Amino acid sequence: MAEDAFGLPSRLPGLLGIRYPIVQGGMSWASSCAALPLAVACAGALGVIAAGPMRPDALVEAIRAVKAGTDQPFAVNIPLYNKRSAEFLDIAEAERVPVIIASQGGPKAHLPRFRAYGAHWLHVVASVPHALKAEAAGVDGIIVVGGEAGGHPAPDEVSAMVLVRAVARAVGLPVIGAGGVADGAGIAAMFALGAEGAQLGTRFLMTQEASVHEHYKASVLAAGIADTTLVGRGGLPVRQVRNRFTAEVDAAEREGHSPEALASLYASRSLKLAAFDGDADWGKVEAGQSAGLIDDIPPADDVVRQLVAEVAATRRRLLGLAETVPA
Ligand SMILES: Cc1cc2nc3c(=O)[nH]c(=O)nc-3n(C[C@H](O)[C@H](O)[C@H](O)COP(=O)(O)O)c2cc1C
Repeated sequence: MAEDAFGLPSRLPGLLGIRYPIVQGGMSWASSCAALPLAVACAGALGVIAAGPMRPDALVEAIRAVKAGTDQPFAVNIPLYNKRSAEFLDIAEAERVPVIIASQGGPKAHLPRFRAYGAHWLHVVASVPHALKAEAAGVDGIIVVGGEAGGHPAPDEVSAMVLVRAVARAVGLPVIGAGGVADGAGIAAMFALGAEGAQLGTRFLMTQEASVHEHYKASVLAAGIADTTLVGRGGLPVRQVRNRFTAEVDAAEREGHSPEALASLYASRSLKLAAFDGDADWGKVEAGQSAGLIDDIPPADDVVRQLVAEVAATRRRLLGLAETVPA
């Protein structure tokens, strides 16, 4: 297992050809472009284009821009429930995208054509049974997302601390832990739980290259660790920063509105309203609890450098502790 400059053992650099076992979480809107994934890839981590909200021609353009900017591997994130997922998969195959990161659906039927040109497939899961199913289907690695995460976290709200540990115990494939990781200490914690890498969403959302409105970033910057909430419990919940929309949702839930009325309220506002139109009061300002650990908006390559330095510092601190504890 490679240990390199990072200082923690992982099969992922060897498997994927990346320098550091750090993944920039695919984020609809924020990484539905070339700028953020390219900056992350150039810095030695895995940059991820989020296909979700993209038009097919925009996805092709973003993939080609990343390829033109670097020889480093990168990924495309494809939610398999998306109505355009078949088209996204065709594009990824045609463009020979090196890593596919898929969620919300079975990988088995899709793997052979990506294997055929040497691509790797990482599968996003939020439960042990789904991790076992993905492993049995033949994926290359499992991304485990805990309840702290921004975007769509585990519907049953199990925290990364418990879920990553449970999946790492259950599977033999490399596990990438996600949810609540904002710095090198968080990455080291994922390794302590048995993961061989970490995926960070909210931390990379708060970078100069992330393609969301400045009001969105200001709202996440101002948020403390307890300032996010889940909208849409019982379905596919979204973790977002509390705002006027979530207050309206809270009130409707307290007043006992019918499940149909609540479902239509949940769907009445969008991520696009916040990310593109800049309405941070009424849009879905999706972000994880780690928003409260983040207080700057640097360039993405600075974030990668800082994370690597922090992992090394955490490792030294832990080794130092070991030396002071009597055997
Ligand atoms: C704004 C935003 C949009 C996201 N969109 C997607 C997406 O399109 N597909 C996906 O698989 N995950 C998505 N995620 C989840 C991230 O990829 C990642 O797993 C998560 O952010 C990790 O937790 P963290 O935010 O605590 O770091 C999104 C997260 C955020 C914050």
